[in-house]
Amino acid sequence: MAVKQDLRTPIVSVMGHVDHGKTTLLDRIRGSTVAEGEAGAITQHIGATEVPIDTIVSKCGNPALRDKFMVPGLLFIDTPGHHAFTSLRSRGGALADLAIVIVDINEGFMPQTIESLQILKRFKTPFVVVANKIDRIHGWEPQKNAPFIVSYNKQSERVKTELDRKFYEVVGELYNAGFNSERHDRVSDFQRNIGIIPISAVTGEGIADVLMVLLGLAQRFLEGNLHYDASVPGVGTVLEVKEEKGLGATIDVILYDGNLKKGDMIVVGSLGKPLHTKVRALLKPRPLTEIKSEEKFQQVQSVTAAIGVKISAPNLDSALAGSPVRVVTPETVDAISEEILNELEEV
Ligand code: GTP
Ligand code: MG
Repeated sequence: MAVKQDLRTPIVSVMGHVDHGKTTLLDRIRGSTVAEGEAGAITQHIGATEVPIDTIVSKCGNPALRDKFMVPGLLFIDTPGHHAFTSLRSRGGALADLAIVIVDINEGFMPQTIESLQILKRFKTPFVVVANKIDRIHGWEPQKNAPFIVSYNKQSERVKTELDRKFYEVVGELYNAGFNSERHDRVSDFQRNIGIIPISAVTGEGIADVLMVLLGLAQRFLEGNLHYDASVPGVGTVLEVKEEKGLGATIDVILYDGNLKKGDMIVVGSLGKPLHTKVRALLKPRPLTEIKSEEKFQQVQSVTAAIGVKISAPNLDSALAGSPVRVVTPETVDAISEEILNELEEV
């Protein structure tokens, strides 16, 4: 397979309004691929899910794609929809290479849908819109895990008309937000038009389309930007600050560049001055097969981008979700703390 070793996994942030289906979509991407026992294991990270290219390609049912796409897979991040998480979402937009904006096709655009679009516009992040919950259209006949067009062609004329009507409302709302868009299978130039993919995260209809379009976007927009250097000091973003039994405050981090080791000194954004601490342990979730294990996490000695990992270290109580994490040395600590402080003030 044509995967280049030094090309890192693109980070795909899933954004959208509360309850429009972000978590269900990720569950479906995970579940349908795991359940069908396909090649390539899905890796569960802290706060993220990694789907290898082999799995995506087999999910899309076209082995010829294998030689076309150079990325090792896709790393999906779920972002909370509640508006208190604005800064995290804006960070999520910044750290993502690609994004999915999910909108309930029956409810249409809501405040956080628009906010997600503004964040992506600001960071010039390529994205696709997913029009979710098509199975809720009255009279819809679900076709489990079918590509969108297969499913669409099996619906009655009345249902098709209803889907089209709701779909064009989404097109209209995107236009009001400053984007030209079209159904994903009709887009010829993703630079000029945003693709909209009608899906159901519950029945799996259109999921293969989502994976395909994301791979296409990665290929089209990112190939030049995904080279990374595993030897440079790690750079990441705090997704969540969490109290863990026996560990105290820990941070769930998406590392998007470089390397992070046990014992490294790190600087983390906090409410006041950025905090300094030393990594006591790097933790990953146990594989699904070991779910009965007493311990929720397993320790690793080091990690390389892009990856989701939990950091256990002293003094993390005041760490701020959405803020940067950087590996430092005694020589760089002051300059990097200053940079983080400035960065946090900008948001
Ligand atoms: P927050 O994390 O709170 O922002 O919500 P979310 O965007 O992650 O939404 P979530 O995936 O939790 O879905 C919200 C509700 O919608 C759940 O009850 C889901 O079962 C339901 N839901 C999600 N996708 C679909 C779909 O495609 N069809 C139907 N019928 N229900 C869906
Ligand atoms: Mg959710």
